[in-house]
Amino acid sequence: MLETSKLETLKKLLATVSQEELVWINGFLSGITHTISIPNNIQESGRVSNAIDKITIVYGTETGNAKSLATQLSIYARKKGISVKLSALDQYKPADLAKEKYFFVIISTQGDGEPPAAAKRFYEYIHRGDLSIPHLEFGVIALGDSAYPLFCKTGEDVDIKLKEAGGTRIASLKKCDIDYEQDATEWFENALAVLRSVNSPTLPSVGKVQSKNKRQIYNGNVVGHINLNDTGSNKETYHIEIATEGIVYAPGDSIGIIPSNPIELVDAIINITGVDRDKVIDHRGKSATIFSLLHKELNITYLLPSVVKKYGNITQQNIPETKIGLWDLLNIYPVNSPVQFETVIAELNTISPRLYSISSSPSAHGDEVHITVSKDNYSINGELKFGLCSNQLSNQDINSNVEIFVHKNNIFRLPENNKDIIMIGPGTGIAPFRSFLHERNALGANGKNWLFFGDQCFVTDFLYQTEIQEWVATGLLTNVSLAFSRDQQEKIYVQDRIKDNGGEFYKWLEEGAYIYICGSKDPMSIDVENAILEVIQKHGDRSEDESVAYLEMLKSNDRFFKDVY
Ligand SMILES: Cc1cc2nc3c(=O)[nH]c(=O)nc-3n(C[C@H](O)[C@H](O)[C@H](O)COP(=O)(O)OP(=O)(O)OC[C@H]3O[C@@H](n4cnc5c(N)ncnc54)[C@H](O)[C@@H]3O)c2cc1C
Ligand SMILES: Cc1cc2nc3c(=O)[nH]c(=O)nc-3n(C[C@H](O)[C@H](O)[C@H](O)COP(=O)(O)O)c2cc1C
Repeated sequence: MLETSKLETLKKLLATVSQEELVWINGFLSGITHTISIPNNIQESGRVSNAIDKITIVYGTETGNAKSLATQLSIYARKKGISVKLSALDQYKPADLAKEKYFFVIISTQGDGEPPAAAKRFYEYIHRGDLSIPHLEFGVIALGDSAYPLFCKTGEDVDIKLKEAGGTRIASLKKCDIDYEQDATEWFENALAVLRSVNSPTLPSVGKVQSKNKRQIYNGNVVGHINLNDTGSNKETYHIEIATEGIVYAPGDSIGIIPSNPIELVDAIINITGVDRDKVIDHRGKSATIFSLLHKELNITYLLPSVVKKYGNITQQNIPETKIGLWDLLNIYPVNSPVQFETVIAELNTISPRLYSISSSPSAHGDEVHITVSKDNYSINGELKFGLCSNQLSNQDINSNVEIFVHKNNIFRLPENNKDIIMIGPGTGIAPFRSFLHERNALGANGKNWLFFGDQCFVTDFLYQTEIQEWVATGLLTNVSLAFSRDQQEKIYVQDRIKDNGGEFYKWLEEGAYIYICGSKDPMSIDVENAILEVIQKHGDRSEDESVAYLEMLKSNDRFFKDVY
C-alpha cells in the first residue's frame, strides 16, 4: 500500500490532469511495471455502474498482435472508469487465477495449433486438470489466421479449459481472423456492457480495418538469387532479392509466401486415383478444377493427424497415427474409386503460409525485399526429401514471379538510434540483423552494435561474410563474436561465445543494451537464454533467482526480444 502522504500527493496530481494525460500516465506506468491497476477514484465521472470496477486482461503473443490489442482494450476499459490489470502471460502467475474475478484472455495460435512460447506455462497450468475456479468470470479472444487449418486452436483450448475448471463465460469465445481489430473491439465492448449491465457508447475501431481475411498481396519479381554457402557445405542457404512496388515493412518483419505443390506430384496423385483432373469441384466455397486445387490450394505434403484419421474413416482402413503425405497415404492405403478420392479432397486443408524474416532494410533497399532461405531437408525411410516452400524458393529463377505478403512483428523492433543492441542470430537467424544493420547504417544510428553469429564451418557457412567484415571495418559493428561448431574437435556455439565474453556482455546490459535472438527455437534460443542467465549470475554477482529476476526486468522493460521458429 502507498503511504497516506504519498497517496494524497498522487490524488492532488491526478485531480489536475486531463483525460489524455491520464491515459498517457497510465501507459507510462504500465511500461514501468507491466502490471498496473488504476485506482477507482480516477474513474471517468458518472459513466460507471457499481457492477464492475476491476478487470484483468492477459495476453499471449508471438508477433505483438495480441499485445497491441490487449493494450488498446485496456485503454478503452480505463477510459470507461474500469481499473485494469494488464499483463503478458509470461509475466502472469497462473496461481493468481484463484484471486481473479473478471478475467480476459487475448491469445494467438502458433505452429500447428500451438500456444505462443510466452504463453506455454499458463497454457500447461490450465491443462493440469486440477484447476478449480468457480468464482471466475472470463472471456477469451482468440487471434488466428484462417489460412491455417487449426484456426484459433489455442484460444479455443483456453476457453474450454477455463469453463471446465468451473469458470463462467462473460461472453462466448471470440475467434478472430487476420482482420481482428474491429471484431475484437466490438466483442469487448459488448462483454463489458454485459458485465456492467449498461449500454456502452460505440467503441471506435482500433487501427486500420482490413476487408474480411484479405491480405495485401504484393507481386514480386526475383532479381537476385545466390547460394551463400560454399562448395563442400552441408547446407544450402539462399539470399533472394525480390523487387516489388509499394511494399511497406519495418526491420523485424517477415514476408509470407504460400507455396504450391509440385506438378509432377499432383500428376502422380491424379494418375493413381483415376480422378478427372479437369472436373470442377467446390472446396469450402472455392470452385476450381481438381488439378488446380491439388496444385495451388490444398496441403498434400504433410497431413495433420486429424486429416489422416478422416482419410482412414473414408477409406475404411485402420491407419496408425503417423507423419505422412497424401502420396504415401494413397500408395499404402489406396482409395477404392475416383469418387472416394473426391470425398478425401473435401477433407484436405489449405496450404499454410511460410514466413521468412526480411533481411533487407527499407531505408537501404527501397522497394526490394531480401530473404535468407535455408533449404529444408528431411528423410522418410532413408529417402531424402526437401521442404515444400524452401525448396521452391531455392530453385527460383531470376525474373520469376513470386507473391508475397508482409507479416508484421511489432515486438521485434530496433530501439532508438542511440541505444546499444546485442544481436544473436546463428544460421538464418542472421536475417533480421542484416536488416537492422543496413537500417542503422542508412540512418547513421550511433548506438553500438554487437553481432553473435554461428554456423557449421567458417570457410563454407559464414553467411554474409563480406558485408559483416565491411561493417566491422567501418565501425558499424562494434563487436562480432563468431562460433563455427565444426571447425574444431569440441562443438562451439553462440551460447559459448556469450559466456566467453560474459564480462563485456554484462557490462553492455548494465549500460542499457537491448538483446535480440533470432533463429531456431529449440535448442538454440533456450541455450542462449540459459547462457545469458549464467552471465548475469557470474558477472553481476547474483544468485540464480536474482539473475532470473534481472532477465525478467529486461523483458518487462522491452529490452529482450526473441523471434524464433
Ligand atoms: C517468424 C518466422 C520466421 C522465419 N524465418 C525464416 C528465415 O529467415 N529463413 C528460413 O530459412 N526459414 C525461416 N522460417 C521457417 C520457414 O517459415 C519454414 O518453416 C521453413 O522454410 C520450412 O518450410 P518448408 O515449406 O520448406 O518445409 P515443409 O514442407 O513445411 O517441411 C517442414 C518439416 O516438416 C516435416 N515434413 C514435411 N513433409 C513431411 C512428410 N511428408 N512427412 C513427414 N514429415 C514431413 C519435416 O520435418 C520438414 O523438415 C521462419 C519461420 C517463422 C515462423
Ligand atoms: C508460424 C505461424 C503459425 C501459425 N499457426 C496458426 C494456427 O495454427 N492457427 C491459427 O489460427 N493461426 C496461426 N497463425 C496465425 C497467428 O495466430 C496470427 O498471425 C495472429 O494474429 C498472431 O498474433 P500474435 O502477433 O499476437 O502472435 C500462425 C502464425 C505463424 C507465424
